[in-house]
Amino acid sequence: MDRLVIQGGHPLRGRIRVSGAKNAALPCLAAALLTPDEVVLSNLPAVADIRTMVKVLQALGTEATLEPEGEGFELTARLTCAGSEDPKAPYELVKTMRASILVLGPLLARFGKATVSLPGGCAIGARPVNLHLEALERMGATIEISHGYIHASVKDHLKAIDHTFEKVSVGATENILMAAALVDGTTVLRNAAQEPEIGDLAQLLVKMGAQIEGLGTGILSVTGAGRLHGCEHAVIPDRIEAGTYLCAVAAACGDVVLDRCEPEHLRSLLDLLERTGCVITEREGQGGRQVRIQREVGQKLRSKDATTLPFPGFPTDLQAQVMAVMTQACGISVINEGIFENRFQHAMELERLGANLRTDGHTAIVAGPAELTGCTVMATDLRASAALVIAGLVAKGETIVDRIYHLDRGYAGLEKKLQGVGAHIERVGGGRV
Ligand code: EPZ
Repeated sequence: MDRLVIQGGHPLRGRIRVSGAKNAALPCLAAALLTPDEVVLSNLPAVADIRTMVKVLQALGTEATLEPEGEGFELTARLTCAGSEDPKAPYELVKTMRASILVLGPLLARFGKATVSLPGGCAIGARPVNLHLEALERMGATIEISHGYIHASVKDHLKAIDHTFEKVSVGATENILMAAALVDGTTVLRNAAQEPEIGDLAQLLVKMGAQIEGLGTGILSVTGAGRLHGCEHAVIPDRIEAGTYLCAVAAACGDVVLDRCEPEHLRSLLDLLERTGCVITEREGQGGRQVRIQREVGQKLRSKDATTLPFPGFPTDLQAQVMAVMTQACGISVINEGIFENRFQHAMELERLGANLRTDGHTAIVAGPAELTGCTVMATDLRASAALVIAGLVAKGETIVDRIYHLDRGYAGLEKKLQGVGAHIERVGGGRV
């Protein structure tokens, strides 16, 4: 099992190129099921979850190739889904990546039936899928759950609905948006999630022939086409990867420019880091928008509070990383996790590194600045792992981050990108340390 070995105390200086967004790529891959034509998706991050989703699509009768782009941190997928008699997304694959549930809506819309393993919970929470299933039933699907699988079918075709989600859900919004894109008539989704990844999925569906209005608002209006056609699409930059590197500089000091980073997707984090005292600069570069962050060595950080909310609120996927930053800020920072029920597992590991914090339910109180000293810590989920890497970049001495397969699910070339800006970080095979 690979580990990361980090020698802390080195400021970060240079440029990092942001890869494509994992959480845009996954629904876009699932959308390929909606057409028999070839769909070409580029700027996919070269991470484990993308490879897993491609395996799920292949299990569902999709011809798929994945080719590396550029330096190998991105991939291009060519997908043609002729379909299969009895489309089934198996537990063996779904258990490793719960986003596999995103094939349910497209399969039902295209083939009228689907068998998808229940994703089950994960480290950060129970992760139910009731919002997905309720909306699909309202569209006319018959849903039965037995032996850990969702058995869904529809007599003739799904129908357009006017639906209000009981709770804002990224995945449920994406699942129903994809199903509605292939359904005759106009479906209205209210209390829909507004994350940029949903806008990117919508851009793909429009290229495939659907009409979608209301992007950037909580009310989406989707007019489906009886048949969708193939197209080419490059996914948006990963705002969470970008935010992770911004937090690394805020915690470890330095001066880094992120290439291909869309500031509008990160406005809440950029405002927060500016309020701590970091200098943030946005500009237009050759390959798209750029964001520069500066924190001079020795510069004090002001403590700030954060509460995670659906977009455009502060993203839950950056909560762990900001907690690592606030261990270095002067004063008390209050962090509330408003989305998931168990997303503070990184807190105990940060305490082992010397952070001064306490958690109580959905609230963490962080007192800083705390002197961090290196030790061995264990990653528990994707974004918690990133927080431990950030703390390791700050901690005096050597930090070893174990179980980094969690990181490999969502960060392409993390250690290489950090080495490129002066971090002393190496990946070593399990047991060789
Ligand atoms: C997506 O997960 C992201 N994953 C998550 O990123 C992200 O943390 C989350 O959205 C919130 O922004 C992908 O896009 C692949 P939700 P998703 O449905 O869709 C509850 C990462 O680190 N809920 O918006 O599963 C749920 O329990 C990952 O990249 C129901 O109750 O999140 C949670 O409390 C982690 N019933 C809240 O809603 C449902 O049917 C938001 O979940 C669905 C969700």
